[in-house]
Amino acid sequence: MNNKKITIAIDGFSSCGKSTMAKDLAKEIGYIYVDTGAMYRSVTLYALQHGMFGADNSIDTAALEKAMPQIKISFKLNAETGRPDTYLNGQLVEKDIRTMEVSSRVSPIAALPFVRKALVEQQQAMGKEKGIVMDGRDIGTVVFPDAELKVFVTASAEVRAQRRFEELKAKGMPADLQDILKNVQERDYIDSHREVSPLRKADDAVELDNSNMTIAEQKQWLRNIFEERTR
Ligand code: DC
Repeated sequence: MNNKKITIAIDGFSSCGKSTMAKDLAKEIGYIYVDTGAMYRSVTLYALQHGMFGADNSIDTAALEKAMPQIKISFKLNAETGRPDTYLNGQLVEKDIRTMEVSSRVSPIAALPFVRKALVEQQQAMGKEKGIVMDGRDIGTVVFPDAELKVFVTASAEVRAQRRFEELKAKGMPADLQDILKNVQERDYIDSHREVSPLRKADDAVELDNSNMTIAEQKQWLRNIFEERTR
C-alpha cells in the first residue's frame, strides 16, 4: 500500500450509514476518524445541561456564545469497540449525545455561526497532518475543500429512519419509528436550508446512494475508491 496520507471527507444526510463506513475505513487503513456530528451533539448536550433551552425551545445564544471557550470536546479510542468515544469536558458522553432529546435539538445549534466557526477551527486543526477520515455535512465544502477524496452519501428518509430505529432498539433505547422519520425529515430540511454551510454535495465529490446496499457492500465500495485515489 502507498504511504502517502490523504484527507478523506465524507458528507451526507443524517443516519445514512456514513459513520459506520467511515469509522471502519479509518481503522483498516490506520487513519484518524473524526465524527463531527458528535461535536455538534456535544455542544447541544452542554446547552441542555446548562439550561440554555427555553420552554419554547428557544436558545440562549448569548450564554452559549460566552460558554463556547469552556466547551472542550475530545475523542478517545475505546479499546473494546476499537472506535473513538466522545468526551465533553473530560466526561464520557458517547451515549448521552445519541438520545432523541439531543437529536431533536441539534440542528438549530448547528445552524449558529459562532458554534460552526469554533468547531470548524478545531476540525481543521485535527486534520492538519492528513491521514484523517472526517464525517459530517460540510467537510468537503468548508472544512477541507482541498480533500483528496470527497464522498457524498445519500439514502431515502424512510430507509434512514428504519436504520436509526433498529440501532436504538439494539442499544435498548426507547424508539418510535414515526417519531424518528419525522426527526430525520426535519433535520434534512434544516441542515440543507440553513444560511451557514448548508448540507450540499461538493462539486468534486463522488456520490453514493446506499439505499439498497449492505454495510459490507458500502465498505468495499469506499475501500476501492480509496485504493484508486492513493495508487
Ligand atoms: O451526523 P449526526 O446526525 O450525528 O449530526 C448531528 C447534527 O449535527 C445534524 O443535525 C447536522 C449537524 N452537523 C453539521 O451541521 N455539520 C457537521 N459537520 C456535522 C453535523
